[in-house]
Amino acid sequence: MGTRAATVRRMKPRVLITRHVYPAAIPILQEHCVVDYQDRYEVMDEAQLSKKLQLADGVVCQLTDPMTRAVIESAPKLRVISQIAVGIDNIDVQAATERKIAVTNTPGVLTEATADLTFALLLAAARKLPTAERFLRDGKWQRWDVDLLCGGDVHGQTIGIVGLGRIGQAVARRAKGFSMRVLYASRNSAPPEVEQELGAMRVPLDALLRESDFVSLHVPLTDATRHMISIQQLCQMKRSAILINTARGPIVDELAMTAALEEGLIGGAALDVFEDEPNVPDDLLALPNVILLPHIGSAVTSVRSLMCAIAARDCAAIFSGEGPEHLVNPEVMA
Ligand code: NAP
Ligand code: GLV
Repeated sequence: MGTRAATVRRMKPRVLITRHVYPAAIPILQEHCVVDYQDRYEVMDEAQLSKKLQLADGVVCQLTDPMTRAVIESAPKLRVISQIAVGIDNIDVQAATERKIAVTNTPGVLTEATADLTFALLLAAARKLPTAERFLRDGKWQRWDVDLLCGGDVHGQTIGIVGLGRIGQAVARRAKGFSMRVLYASRNSAPPEVEQELGAMRVPLDALLRESDFVSLHVPLTDATRHMISIQQLCQMKRSAILINTARGPIVDELAMTAALEEGLIGGAALDVFEDEPNVPDDLLALPNVILLPHIGSAVTSVRSLMCAIAARDCAAIFSGEGPEHLVNPEVMA
């Protein structure tokens, strides 16, 4: 009996879950796979990941995990990398594709939550909410004053959305509800019906930067978008403008942004993501005109639980033969 169970276990594909996940993921994987669940919050480095992947046919990973070429090439049996996130910049997709390893992610399910967080940042920055709350908690509130903690308007202002994809469009929908003018910059135009529904106008990035009161970033991190916002772009923005980044830290040149904030070249920044997470430079921490969050764009319990389940389902689908729903590199199936 024991020997038979061991044989069945041997025949099932083995899947590594690199870090703690919502429990929904586990039974989905167990139906088809033997699960090596690393139920902890620590992040494995490349060497530890490579070691753990020696026997793995699949991996359910997170944006913290360095799925580099070296790691991928050192995993002899790997057939699928399922990421619990939409962004996949921690995965060398090219290296995976060369090895015919499927890469999956979790788009869509987190769109509204991330757009909500983006708009929360926009409102909080415009109306100085963190400063106002700190002022009250510090016991500084003496009375109502006509010029106490006054911020800027949101309604009727111009928002510039860089990358009008799923999240960019969801942000535009919220902006429309606030009677904002919506500009966007993308490599391709959105379909005319989408532009019409959102009241969004496509303009070159330079024009967007010049005209916007709020600039909100929603492009993926790629070679083309790394430091897309650097000193040259920051200099084009209005001195009162607020930069919002809920996409990826390295899309913005953090040193240049810090200098721009220090020099008053832009009015403020509201950031959920950083160049070297979880490290936030002291110079940025010291600035009064920034809001800083620890990468919580999609951090809604129901959303994160679904993300875990979706990643697990797509990982298992490679082994059950059903085919994954969110395949990043469909060429591996050819
Ligand atoms: P998406 O639907 O693929 O949208 C990305 C948009 O960026 C597309 O419209 C694309 O349009 C545009 N784009 C890509 N490369 C570009 C370039 N070089 N120049 C200009 N535009 C470019 O992705 P999404 O689901 O909205 O997610 C966007 C990103 O948000 C993710 O990749 C992830 O990094 C980040 N994110 C962060 C959090 C968080 O917790 N803070 C949560 C979720 C997602 P074109 O191809 O037409 O240019
Ligand atoms: C979060 O940052 C994601 O890409 O899903």
